[in-house]
Amino acid sequence: MLNDVWLFLSKGTLGASSSMHDSVFASIFRCPMKIFDVTPTGRILNRFSRDLDEIDVRLPLTMQLFLDNIWVVLASILNVCIVFPWFLIALVPLGIMFALVNIFFRHIIRELKRFDNVRRSPWFSHVTASIQGLSTIHAYHKNSDVMATFTTLMDKNNAAFLMYHFSTRWLAVRLDTVSLSINVLAALMVVVFQGQIPPSWDGLALSYAIQTSGLLQLTVRMASETESRFTCVERITHYADNLEQEVPEHIKESDPAENWPDQGVVQFDRYQMRYRESLPLVLKDVQCNIRPRESVRIVGRTGSGKSSLGVVLFRLVEPTDGTILIDGVDISKIGLQSLRSKLSIIPQDPVLFVGTVRYNLDPFNQYHDPELWRALERTYMKDAISGLEKQLEAPVVENGKNFSVGERQLICMARALLRNSKVILLDEATAAIDSETDSLIQKTIHEAFTDCTMLTIAHRLNTVLNSDRIMVMEDGKLVEFDPPAVLMSDPNSRFSAMMAAAGSDVNKYLTNNPLPDVEESRRRRGYEVVDY
Ligand SMILES: Nc1ncnc2c1ncn2[C@@H]1O[C@H](COP(=O)(O)OP(=O)(O)OP(=O)(O)O)[C@@H](O)[C@H]1O
Ligand SMILES: [Mg+2]
Repeated sequence: MLNDVWLFLSKGTLGASSSMHDSVFASIFRCPMKIFDVTPTGRILNRFSRDLDEIDVRLPLTMQLFLDNIWVVLASILNVCIVFPWFLIALVPLGIMFALVNIFFRHIIRELKRFDNVRRSPWFSHVTASIQGLSTIHAYHKNSDVMATFTTLMDKNNAAFLMYHFSTRWLAVRLDTVSLSINVLAALMVVVFQGQIPPSWDGLALSYAIQTSGLLQLTVRMASETESRFTCVERITHYADNLEQEVPEHIKESDPAENWPDQGVVQFDRYQMRYRESLPLVLKDVQCNIRPRESVRIVGRTGSGKSSLGVVLFRLVEPTDGTILIDGVDISKIGLQSLRSKLSIIPQDPVLFVGTVRYNLDPFNQYHDPELWRALERTYMKDAISGLEKQLEAPVVENGKNFSVGERQLICMARALLRNSKVILLDEATAAIDSETDSLIQKTIHEAFTDCTMLTIAHRLNTVLNSDRIMVMEDGKLVEFDPPAVLMSDPNSRFSAMMAAAGSDVNKYLTNNPLPDVEESRRRRGYEVVDY
């Protein structure tokens, strides 16, 4: 029977903690980007490591100890009371003393536990940030500074933990005094009622009273520890229930047809965006029509809002004003999954996940091997991958560090090709890419993505001339949007000024690759020029 109760309790607590994990996980995954911008990583890690560990392991353990012992303590006191009914009178002041100690210090212990929970987050954040910036720390010989911050944060965290720990011990000592009084009273009664009660009963009462002394203290301590550990449940449920969430993944009434977008027309209509309410506008009144299957290069100074165009296309941030239409559908009205599953992005710092090459190309196991190889072939990665010992099953380490940045972009491009998206956004890596990989990337853009609307955020000016149109961003505004030949022919255009500043590299490129005739190049790409 008792075993069944514990089995039920274990199953119940495990079930509760895993459902709490699932709900907080789902809630974090559905948070808008701004939450991650303002929340230190340590705070989130703390929820998923220490708080969940408390709920998984420590909380059930303390709760079990409390439930185990409370019955023994109550039964022991009842035994003493049956043997010496006068003991009931003594129980009144003892009970009051016990209640006072418990009421006052329970609150303190609970608050100290909250303090301990909160103090852990900065320490977690520091460890994660240090790991991420390890090479910079070594390069600037900042090891001792980082270690000093580490130990300070650790001390602060330990101080909070020790205060919590000592306070439970403080309570234990006071409670021991109460339970010792029970022993003394029981012994006194044995002496006072000598001869009136059989010695065997005396012995029974005394042995139960002695047993109570240790257990009472432990039981009460476990009760207050159980309560204080529930602050972790409070922290988890706060995240699960109160975090701001993105709009639903699918909206039945407004979701577009399955084959949307079949053209790849992207229209920005007086689009404005700021990352958070308190920040200035990052995109200001962007107005443009991008035609189907057009190859557009986006250029501009650093911080001019190029990557932000990609951010808004995926609705990682919602508009402040204006709309974006893809094939005539207002993307702010449709479900997020319906939108994001139809676009592909190859980010500035492409990320590969720990696993295999296959997992990174096809995480949901949707394609056959020949399709994967075909995609790799079209992105010029076939030779590199087939040269690896395990080919598609070759391991990918954390952040894909066993591939160069360029190779990572090419693998991301292969993934985009497999998805067969009509609109693709490529944020060229700012990190140094060797010229061979760079030319492979450029070749892939020209050959593999001819059937898509390709928006490329370009950081190297010599690569932008080979596109249909160039978008020049300046301080969040779209200031020029024309074919390269048109922009280059106007000596006052910002683009010409940028090219002039780029100097000899561009001249060399232009000598070897004269600017294509715009209309001719479009005709070669096999579509009619339609103005939207
Ligand atoms: N997550 C963010 N939260 C707040 N502001 C941001 C965020 N990301 C970018 N910004 C700001 O938005 C502006 C535009 O940034 P964006 O990343 O779009 O520039 P960029 O043109 O891509 O620059 P780069 O060429 O360096 O990649 C910058 O002023 C930047 O500080
Ligand atoms: Mg950028």
